[in-house]
Amino acid sequence: MQPPTSWTRPSERPARTLAAGWSDLGATYDAVAADYAAEFAAELDGKPFDRQLLTALAERLRPGAVVADVGCGPAAQIGAYVAGLGPRVVGVDLSQACAALAPVPAAVGDLLALPLGGLDAVVCFYALIHIPRPLVPRALASLRASLRPGGELLLAVHGGTGELHRRGFLGHEVDFDATMFERSELHGLLAAAGFADVRVARRQPYPQEHPTERLYASARA
Ligand SMILES: C[S@@+](CC[C@H](N)C(=O)[O-])C[C@H]1O[C@@H](n2cnc3c(N)ncnc32)[C@H](O)[C@@H]1O
Repeated sequence: MQPPTSWTRPSERPARTLAAGWSDLGATYDAVAADYAAEFAAELDGKPFDRQLLTALAERLRPGAVVADVGCGPAAQIGAYVAGLGPRVVGVDLSQACAALAPVPAAVGDLLALPLGGLDAVVCFYALIHIPRPLVPRALASLRASLRPGGELLLAVHGGTGELHRRGFLGHEVDFDATMFERSELHGLLAAAGFADVRVARRQPYPQEHPTERLYASARA
């Protein structure tokens, strides 16, 4: 797949379909984008488990593979790491500021309605947490539709139960809403969305991280 030229710069923010009661996460990340990038740009240096998963994914891909980093954030450190291993990587983020700052070609886009198809792989780290639980099946269907048959998804979320709603993030007075996932729940959601070869690994948080268990799901479209 050749990314269209519009992927080279952020486009207009799409319409949102977030459930009533959830804040505008695009606006939240617009506000914190620069500080988020400063905080997390180099995070993979201290995350060997994540590097191992991303490296293994990149090594499985064909030469010239195209990968999307969905919910790439302002540092797109996940996508940039994969790009450093060979694949061509495009970023997608709900936040205009994040898409603009990302060090890979990136555009504004909504995980709930990705304007993508035929991708060899998608990496989506900690963006599904910002989808209200009732809309998660729709987000997973959108991710699956963005992949070619057999294309790979690698997803990371915070493990846990329920939702988190708080005011204040990275020193900014913004709203933060998140869904936590249990391992069996995530596995079932991916299978129900039609993904094959679903595996969900878990690891305990590194000392420098927010103290939640981390879940990593891999699956094929
Ligand atoms: C916790 S950050 C993760 C960023 C990066 N992937 C990382 O691992 O550091 C969540 C990102 O997902 C984006 N996001 C939230 N909801 C989204 C949606 N519906 N579609 C696309 N991106 C979304 C946010 O703007 C933010 O950049």
